[in-house]
Amino acid sequence: MRNALITGWGKCLPPTLLTNHDLESIVDTDDEWITTRTGIKERRISHVPLSDLAALAGKRALAAAGVEPEDVDLVMVATCTPDTLMPSAAGMVQNKLGATSAGAFDQNAACSGFLYSLISASGMVASGVIDTALVIGADVLTHLLDFSDRSTAVLFGDGAGAVVVQATDEDAGIIASRMGSDGSVAEILWAEGSGSATGYKEVERNHQLAAISMNGPEVFKRAVKAMGDASSAVIEEAGWSVDDIDLLVPHQANVRIIDATARRLKLDSSKVFVNIASYGNTSAATIPIALTEALENGRVQPGSKLVFAAFGAGLSWAAVALKFGSRVTPISEIDEELPPTDATVLDLLADNFAYFGGGPRG
Ligand code: UT7
Repeated sequence: MRNALITGWGKCLPPTLLTNHDLESIVDTDDEWITTRTGIKERRISHVPLSDLAALAGKRALAAAGVEPEDVDLVMVATCTPDTLMPSAAGMVQNKLGATSAGAFDQNAACSGFLYSLISASGMVASGVIDTALVIGADVLTHLLDFSDRSTAVLFGDGAGAVVVQATDEDAGIIASRMGSDGSVAEILWAEGSGSATGYKEVERNHQLAAISMNGPEVFKRAVKAMGDASSAVIEEAGWSVDDIDLLVPHQANVRIIDATARRLKLDSSKVFVNIASYGNTSAATIPIALTEALENGRVQPGSKLVFAAFGAGLSWAAVALKFGSRVTPISEIDEELPPTDATVLDLLADNFAYFGGGPRG
C-alpha cells in the first residue's frame, strides 16, 4: 500500500540570542517570572528574511532525505509572517532551492500551520497526486511584537524547521489526524491591522495596529483542552493506548501547557519532547524543529510511535498520530550556514522599537 513517509528533516535557527536578562532591560519583567511561568530562557532574533530561514531548513531536510531540489513536486510553507503577502514565501523558497519542478504555496494556520501542512502534503502524497513534498514551518513572529507589552514580548522567537514527505511502500506514516478551529474567539490571539480589513487612515493614526495581542490565560485554557482532546482522538483512532506512545512532540508555547497536556493524556514526562527553553515559541516552526532535535538526540527510533499536537491563532488546533519510518539517520548533511552578522540583538530590534515604541528602559 502506498503511504507518505517523513524521509528528511532539518532546522534553521538564526544565531542572535535574546535572553531573559536582555528582556529585563527592555520591558518590566524578570528571568524568574519568565522561567517559571513559561519555561523559556532565550529565543532567537533573525537578521535575514523568513524565506532565508525557511530555505536553509528546507535544504537541510532535502540533504537528510537524499532528494535533489529538482525532484520536489511541491514546496509548502506554513507561516503567518511571509516576507511579503504576495508573492508567497513558498515561491521564494522554491527559487532559492532551485526546486524547478515544484509547485509552491503558503498555508496559514498560525502555530498549528505545520501540522495542517503535514496532513495536507501527506494526503497528496499517499493519494498519488504528488510523490515528494517539502513541508516547512517557519515564522519570524518577533517582527509583530510590541516589546513594551510584557504579556507577549517574552514568548516568541524566530526559526524554521522542515520535513520531506515521500511516497513509500513501508508500513509507516500518518495513522490518524485531527484539525480543528473556532473563529468565534479569534480576538483572544490576533494581530489586528495586519491585513486588508484595516483602513488606511487607521494605520496612519495608530502605529500599534499590527502588533500581536493576546488574552494569555484564555488561550492557555483552550490550548490544553484542544491539544489534549485532539491527541486523545488520534491515539484512539490509531488503535493505540497511551503506553504505546514513544514520544509526544508538542507545539512549544509554554512548558506549563505542555505539562498540562501530558497530564491530561496520563503520559509520563519522559515521553514528552521539550526544547522551549532555547527557542521560545517559534509558531509554525516549533514542531519540525523539535522533531529534528528529537531525531538528532536519538529519541526517535525506527518505527517509533509519535504524537504531534499544536494550537494557535484562529483559533486553530491539530494532532497527528504517526509511525516513523525505518531510517532515523540523515542520508547526507550540508555545511551551508546563514550569512554571518555582527549586529547585536538591540541593533536587530532597533526598527521594531522605533515603530512600536518599545526599547531599552532608561
Ligand atoms: O502558540 C499559541 C499561542 N500562545 C500561547 O499558547 C500562550 C498561552 N498563554 C500563556 O502561555 C500564559 O497565559 C502567559 C505566559 C502568556 C501568561 O502567564 P499566566 O500565568 O497566564 O499569567 P497572567 O496573564 O495571568 O498574569 C499573571 C501576572 C499579572 O500580574 P498581576 O495582575 O497578577 O499583578 C501579569 O501582569 O503576571 C503578570 N505578567 C508578567 N509579569 C512579569 C504578565 N506577563 C509578565 C511578564 N513578566 N512577562
